Amino acid sequence: MITRPIRNILESGKEGEKLSIPGWVRTVRDSKNVVFISLNDGSSITGLQLVVEKDSFSDLEALGKISVGSAIIAEGTLKKSQGQGQSIELLVSSIKIEGLSPEDYPLQKKRHTLEYLREIAHLRARTNTLGAVERVRSRMSYAVHSFFQDRGFMYVHTPIITASDCEGAGEMFQVTTLDMDKLPLTKQGKVDYEKDFFQKKAYLTVSGQLEGETYATAMGNIYTFGPTFRAENSNTKRHLAEFWMIEPEMAFADINDNMRVAEDFLKYIFKDILEHQEEDMDFFDNFVEKGVKKSLMHVVETPFVHMTYTDAIKELEKNNDKFDYPVKWGVDIQTEHERYLTEVVASSPVIVTDYPKEIKSFYMKQNDDGKTVRGMDVLVPRLGEIIGGSEREADYDKLLARIKELGLKEENYSWYLDLRKYGSCTHSGFGLGFERAILYATGMQNIRDVIPYPRYVHNASF
Ligand code: 4AD
Ligand code: MG
Repeated sequence: MITRPIRNILESGKEGEKLSIPGWVRTVRDSKNVVFISLNDGSSITGLQLVVEKDSFSDLEALGKISVGSAIIAEGTLKKSQGQGQSIELLVSSIKIEGLSPEDYPLQKKRHTLEYLREIAHLRARTNTLGAVERVRSRMSYAVHSFFQDRGFMYVHTPIITASDCEGAGEMFQVTTLDMDKLPLTKQGKVDYEKDFFQKKAYLTVSGQLEGETYATAMGNIYTFGPTFRAENSNTKRHLAEFWMIEPEMAFADINDNMRVAEDFLKYIFKDILEHQEEDMDFFDNFVEKGVKKSLMHVVETPFVHMTYTDAIKELEKNNDKFDYPVKWGVDIQTEHERYLTEVVASSPVIVTDYPKEIKSFYMKQNDDGKTVRGMDVLVPRLGEIIGGSEREADYDKLLARIKELGLKEENYSWYLDLRKYGSCTHSGFGLGFERAILYATGMQNIRDVIPYPRYVHNASF
């Protein structure tokens, strides 16, 4: 059967409609003459109340077996609800049991910690919180595509396996079919990658940007939306080893165009979920992070503040006594500083630009001062960095010089340099960490709870 979501029935079901509704039992309440069952199918937080009148129900034995977690299909007629908390309910005529759920079902009706739920990630989508997260995640994916498709951006699928390190930070997972216990060696005693699947070292991508640029410089405006991987040994609430990234890349666009798109994009996706996931957003606002809806509305309505890195450092230095890590020009700013800039200095999202070249990637456009590059990070309150991007170096000689300066292998980037040789143009782009966006939008505290199966250091369960 193709089912009609309970969300839809609650919104537009008509009294007297005869329906057959499948779902999982959240609660069973047995009173003298009536059994109330709350049925949930994952389409909304609110379930459908099933009402079984014992007097007229034929299969009381089956009814007695239904417990929390069971999968059933209930048949009956919609009627106005007498009770409080719901406007419509199903007066049940028959119930088909698809699968019972014994007493050791781990999600009995009580509050579970998010840490515990992570251990049963295969069942946690059946809880209110994780269900709401997943619905917001799904809707936000849709909003990402609508935003770019409506503006004529092409969706490009960049490779997952790659030989080039986009960020040059050496945080890549290696992909190989060599037998680790019996590695083939060259005469010099090094691993012989000629014998490996690709006949050279290969990795899981940390970003689709470089390949994205090759399509932007052929098709104008493009975006990617796919999984990326980082072997970062950081055990934080904001880092995953496998996360999804959205990376637009725009030909003939400079950093100002880039900042405008980034701001419009964030505003669009947050506004979209406020409008379309109202019940879930109310849930987050009431039970997860008080005020999260207001802070999202604030992002939607407030113009982002622009600030150079140099000015940001000046602001931060005045308050160095407040930080665990005091700053000075040249250091990479950390979450505590990012939050200070957005929450205290600007009281709004901030776009920081023109970072020292030493702390940014090789591909960023070099400024005339010889010290800074046209990078931009978008920072938001509560979280810090949500987007990283830049105008790209479009000059062949400058780019090659930087590649050499950083000791990167020129031959690995020959194709990337070609873009600067044949019809080079001004171009820019950025990357939004999808889970960071969900984390921010829902007010959830840990990035491990906004992706179905989180991968992080020492963990790849399920
Ligand atoms: O700042 P990053 O490293 O920039 C890039 O990868 C560029 N190639 C993007 C571009 O210009 N096309 O990463 C972009 C964003 C970060 O701002 C952050 O939101 C997210 O990706 N991110 C992570 N999210 C979860 N876990 C991690 N380990 C992340 N690393 C980065
Ligand atoms: Mg970054």
